[in-house]
Amino acid sequence: MSKFTNVFQGRSFLACKDFTPDEINYLIDFSLHLKDLKERNIPHHYLEGKNIALLFEKTSTRTRSSFVVAAHDLGANAEFMGKNDLQLGKKESIEDTGKVLGSMFDGIEYRGFAQKNVEELAKYSGVPVWNGLTDEWHPTQMIADFMTIKEKFGHIKGLTLTFVGDGRNNMANSLLVTGLMLGVNVRILAPKELHPAQEILDIADKFAKESGAKYIITDDIDEAVKGTNVIYTDVWVSMGENDWEERVKLLKPYQVNMDMFKKSGTPDDQIIFMHCLPAFHNTNTKYGKEIHEKYGLSCMEVTDEVFNSKYAWQFTEAENRMHSIKAIMAATLGNLYIPTVKINK
Ligand code: CP
Ligand code: NVA
Repeated sequence: MSKFTNVFQGRSFLACKDFTPDEINYLIDFSLHLKDLKERNIPHHYLEGKNIALLFEKTSTRTRSSFVVAAHDLGANAEFMGKNDLQLGKKESIEDTGKVLGSMFDGIEYRGFAQKNVEELAKYSGVPVWNGLTDEWHPTQMIADFMTIKEKFGHIKGLTLTFVGDGRNNMANSLLVTGLMLGVNVRILAPKELHPAQEILDIADKFAKESGAKYIITDDIDEAVKGTNVIYTDVWVSMGENDWEERVKLLKPYQVNMDMFKKSGTPDDQIIFMHCLPAFHNTNTKYGKEIHEKYGLSCMEVTDEVFNSKYAWQFTEAENRMHSIKAIMAATLGNLYIPTVKINK
């Protein structure tokens, strides 16, 4: 093997669990480095001349924009294909689509429903495929989130993160597993009906054992927020779902509010609020208005007060999507020299 190896070269990024904790830490640090290069106007055309396909079966603001801007900054060309532009799975199998796109594009981003679809695309395209969100996982979001946490606290290991909301969704799964990989204590705060699936807990157990971090799955607010450093929430109803009535009923008691921050007992400069966005924190959206009319709620998963408070880091987190997606694309597709990923934590 050449001594100029790159341990990421040619690999797909489908779920964080497929990588080692050191590799995840490397991508976080590389993202911080690329953010610094961008801020200092230093060119970083690691993907000069490459072509990237962006496949979106679900809508997106941050992920799509991040891939487009990151590809441009890296010197690559990005082509967007939305759900109405593609035959994918309807008129043409994922296998055939993967073979065709892989023969033309150097890398493929895919946002869709089942995780097995993105896995199939990676298998048949033969080029790196990056998971831009599935029902099960949201791995590019993880690099941005723990990058943001590192920016704020200067380190990751040993911190505590509390996810509040639908404990079975892609964000809860991803934060639980990636957090434990990185040595973060994770609490999932959700009503019993929305506690994580056993197969996710099996993965969590494995990483908790390796890192020594602890996790709690609970419906008790006090237990979940005590001493935490991050209160994280997400929409109550994810893309592809539609049972608002049930979710409003189940999750109303778990709305993130100032009281949760007080209950944590954590010093003010040692606790932040995070949200992958989009968020329903007021009635300035179509769904927000409908929920207000039907249930009298002026905000859902987070109060406007928390969203606009001194704890709020969600917009830094959103910007970091771009830097981290850039790091993931550059590491897996760029001809970079990354000989080792042993991190001094
Ligand atoms: N957080 C996130 O994935 O945002 P988008 O749905 O806007 O891409
Ligand atoms: N759980 C949300 C995340 C959005 C970024 C969804 O899947 O819609």
